[in-house]
Amino acid sequence: MTKKSVLPLLTVSVLFLGACGLEKPPASLKFPDQKTEGAAPAAAAPAAPAAETPADPKLAAGKTVYDGSCAGCHDSGMMGAPKPGDKAAWTERLAKGIDAVNSNAIKGFTGKAGMMPPKGGNAQLTDEEVINATAYLVK
Ligand code: HEC
Repeated sequence: MTKKSVLPLLTVSVLFLGACGLEKPPASLKFPDQKTEGAAPAAAAPAAPAAETPADPKLAAGKTVYDGSCAGCHDSGMMGAPKPGDKAAWTERLAKGIDAVNSNAIKGFTGKAGMMPPKGGNAQLTDEEVINATAYLVK
């Protein structure tokens, strides 16, 4: 008698557990959402260190400008254009101050070595882009 009365209880428990088990699939259906939530901070993560070091994105932006508009002369040192990372050449030029160097890059100038065209000949560039490219050149 007792066993028989326990059985329906067990059945109910199993069904209840079953219902619990059924509650899990919806929970696992939320998994893709949780995944997206997890991906969001991961995607935002590279932006955080970039904000901490503002010099790097400027140099990165400067490199892009440099590659597009300045490398033609400055990579090879054509017409006496100082090469990027040529410490000796840049130390000498930076002696007059970075503002003067930036201004020469923006407005252009003719020096002992040759002719630096305004903005490297690319009038489309903003002053800031030329300054970023110069920062990359003299770094
Ligand atoms: C047509 C070739 C040419 C291009 C393109 C060019 N430059 Fe130059 N640049 C020169 C030459 C040549 C000099 C050296 C002039 C001298 O000192 O006689 C020079 C010098 C400079 C200097 C030194 C300025 C100083 O005060 O001594 C900077 C900075 C500079 N260029 C930046 C740039 C940037 C930034 C770009 C791209 C936006 C660029 N240049 C594109 C030829 C070029």
